[in-house]
This record gives sequence, structure tokens and C-alpha cells, in this order.
Amino acid sequence: MSTEQRPKRRHAVFSSPLKDRTGCFSWVKTICLTLCVAPALYIAAWWVAGRLGGRPIHQAMLDTGFWAIRFLVLCLAVTPVRSWFDWSRLIQLRRMLGLTAAFYTFAHVTLYAAQQGFDMGFVLGQMVTVFYLILGTVATLGLFALALTSTDAAIARLGKKWIGLHRLIYPIAVLSFWHFFLTQKIDIGTALVPAGLTLWLLLWRASAARSRRSLARLASLAMGVAVITALGEAGWYALYSGLNPRLVLDANFSFSRWSAAQQLTADFALILLLIAMRRLLSFTIVQSR
Ligand code: HEM
Repeated sequence: MSTEQRPKRRHAVFSSPLKDRTGCFSWVKTICLTLCVAPALYIAAWWVAGRLGGRPIHQAMLDTGFWAIRFLVLCLAVTPVRSWFDWSRLIQLRRMLGLTAAFYTFAHVTLYAAQQGFDMGFVLGQMVTVFYLILGTVATLGLFALALTSTDAAIARLGKKWIGLHRLIYPIAVLSFWHFFLTQKIDIGTALVPAGLTLWLLLWRASAARSRRSLARLASLAMGVAVITALGEAGWYALYSGLNPRLVLDANFSFSRWSAAQQLTADFALILLLIAMRRLLSFTIVQSR
């Protein structure tokens, strides 16, 4: 049969969210899907119970924005975590996490429009004129483009171009964080922790391939990111609130309240400990054979 006569292989739009590539039921994907849906159910339940405060639409808009960024970070973490823990099957979760980030972004933008009484002229006007909303809009368009090209059929059709297109996730993450920071002038602590984790992941990806498995390299990147976070926090408050940067930096050495750099250091230490334990376990198993 010539190539022209051969019927074209049809690709399903999506493989089942509960099955792995071989078509078998996957516990890992099922747990991940449950965790992806849980925040939406939680927000909806609190709304119905009247526990979202005096401005429920606004609160739900903020919550969905925060979940969008969390799932974006989790999506970016798949490749590094897969490599650190030698857990190749983790890759099957990346699409689900990316689509979940796009879903929460959609909910976030829809709730923003709802907050403005769906006055679309005003909403679109704000989206193209207010700086932090322009950043959010560009990030949203990028995320939607990636979501629409995440189907099996699109991956097959785009071939090698797909990888190049999906590298856009990095500038999209930068724009999303920039948008996030500009909404948090008074207290940027909540934005700094996920931003620091993302910076760590991006620096790891930018490292030479041969040094990526080195724990010492990972630890030195973590220390660098903690220092950048502390300096960034001091600089931000000096710029926006006129606070003495020395006072903000000193707070990193007191334990009356956890600073972003301290929280990040604790997170990094836990992750490094888990990686070390995983490697020790593999080593012990190999030795005992
Ligand atoms: C058309 C696109 C977008 C619009 C119109 C929009 C709009 C907004 C608005 C109005 C706020 C609240 C600002 C305030 O109350 O001071 C906000 C906060 C936020 N947005 Fe967006 N946004 C967009 C895209 C995104 C994207 C793509 C992400 C992340 C993936 C995102 C994540 C966040 C986060 C994390 C917050 C802060 C939530 C909090 O304070 O807990 N937004 N956004």
C-alpha cells in the first residue's frame, strides 16, 4: 500500500485522565485528578456556605488566581522532580497539571468579568490598558494556546514544533508571577515563596546537564535563591513602602515570624532530604542484590 493510500492514523483528542499510556487504570493519575479538582470544590463549597466573606466573587477570583499559579508551578516541577527521584512515570501528570492551571486561570478571568457585572467593554478595556492586567492577559492567552495544543492529535500534528511551542510555558510563568507580584504590594510574602521555588526549578533547568543530578549543585542553587529572595523582599518593600531594607533583612534572622526566605530554606531542605533518602534507598537495594 502506498503512503497516499494508507489510511491516516487517528489520534484521540485526549487519552483518558484515569488511564496511563498503555490503557491501564492509573492510581497516580486518579489521585492527581482528585487533587486538581479539590480546590474548585472547596471554593464552591465555601461560597455556598457563605464563608467567602463580604465579597465572595472577589474572594473566589483571588483564590482561583492563586490556584492557577500553584498548578503552573507544579506543572513546571514535573521534569525536575522526575529526574531527582528517578520517577519516570511522573511525566504522565504534566498535561493534567498544565490543563488544571489553564482551567483555574479561566475561572479567575471569568470571575473578574463577573465582578464587573460582565460589562465586557470595560473588562476588555482594562485588560489592554492596566499594566498588571496586560501581563495577566498575555499570560492567559499563552496558557490557553498551550492548553488547546495539548491534545494527542495536536501533539502528533505539530511534531517537533510542539516542543518549541510548549517552551513558552517559561515566559508565561514569568508574566504570571509579575502579574501576581503587582497585585501584592502590601504583603508579597505569599508570592515570594512560589516564585522562589519556580526560580530554583528554572535555574536547575538552565544548569549544565552533567551537574543536574548533583545534590551539592542543587543545594548551592537553593542557597542562592534564598539569598535572592531575602534581597528581593527588602528591595520591594523599600521601593513600594519606603521601609528600611536593613529592617526587612534583619527579620530573616529572627524567628518571631517566618520570612519568605526562611520558609523557602525549610522547603528546600525538606526536598533535598527526600532526594538524599531516595538515593540512599536505591543504593541500598542495588548493594543488597
Ligand atoms: C485576563 C487575564 C487576567 C486578569 C484580568 C486578572 C485579574 C486579576 C485581578 C483583578 C486580580 C486582583 C487584584 C487586586 O485585588 O488587587 C488578580 C490577582 C491575581 N491573579 Fe490574575 N488576572 C489574569 C490572569 C492571571 C493569570 C494568567 C494568573 C496565573 C496563572 C493570575 C494569577 C493571579 C494571582 C495569583 C492573583 C493574586 C491572588 C491573591 O491575592 O491571592 N492571573 N488578577
